[in-house]
Amino acid sequence: MSLEVISNSKEMTAWSIRQFGSGHSIGLVPTMGALHRGHLRLVDEAALGSDKVVVSIFVNPTQFGPNEDLEAYPRTLNEDIQALAEQGKAHAVFAPSVREMYPLGVNKTWVFVDQLGDYLCGASRPGHFRGVTTVVARLFAIIQPTKSYFGLKDAQQFFILRRMSIEMSFQVELIGIPTVREVDGLALSSRNRYLNAAEREQAVALSRSVSEAKNLIEHHGETKVEKLIEAMKAELAGITLGVIDYVEIVDGENLQPCKVLTPGMSVLAAIAYKFGKARLIDNSISLVP
Ligand code: PAJ
Repeated sequence: MSLEVISNSKEMTAWSIRQFGSGHSIGLVPTMGALHRGHLRLVDEAALGSDKVVVSIFVNPTQFGPNEDLEAYPRTLNEDIQALAEQGKAHAVFAPSVREMYPLGVNKTWVFVDQLGDYLCGASRPGHFRGVTTVVARLFAIIQPTKSYFGLKDAQQFFILRRMSIEMSFQVELIGIPTVREVDGLALSSRNRYLNAAEREQAVALSRSVSEAKNLIEHHGETKVEKLIEAMKAELAGITLGVIDYVEIVDGENLQPCKVLTPGMSVLAAIAYKFGKARLIDNSISLVP
């Protein structure tokens, strides 16, 4: 199967219109590249659910804070294209330049979702989600996908984008895909490559911590958020090479903090941890019995 690489947004839209003309649906997988098996799983799912699959690769400057890793973020476009060609499931790669996505220079038009970004990554990365919603809104406008696939590793991002899509009347269905992990549980991330061997070994505690929260909620009837956070922190106690950014439990619907869990509620237990310049996140989503 041939894989078309498109960098111009008008050409991208023309490509999509040709697909619709032939009666095809389009599945979009937005990424920032440095593709790993987590991204490729989204592409697999997109190929199952849509006739044609587009993967966008764009390191979006507006979602990085001034002291974050925008410059250092891995850019491996040739390897990414090769990985997608080998996988054989994608039909087009949309890899625009910064100028193509922000054609008038300094950006003035933003899409912003209120409240859902008040806690977790939204609190520790001011402006981050405004950059994410703005660029994804633009990708939706250019590519006009029928469905778009996102990883639940970034659960807050998924919930914010789903809200945006509904409220902006984008004609796209958002699909959340469970986190793909290493054998020991570490969630795959483009930022794992920043870890040295000792940090890599300690980072596995993140997945243990969020799965312990899920276990306590779903199988041991724990409903006190304070107790759950204590248990999550206990799993992280062995980490000596990193610092906690946050360890939190929020209501899975509105992403606001809560004190006590009630039956039927969906709950997001989430962690962010900094190992040197690598900021890693993980989470689990539970349903209170
Ligand atoms: P990026 O970090 O490249 O991730 C692209 C997509 O892959 C996201 O939906 C993310 O949740 C998913 N993903 C990453 N690691 C995963 C894993 N281990 N298992 C399953 N899915 C995983 O997220 C972004 O880019 C950007 O914010 C973007 C949405 C592209 C907007 O710029």
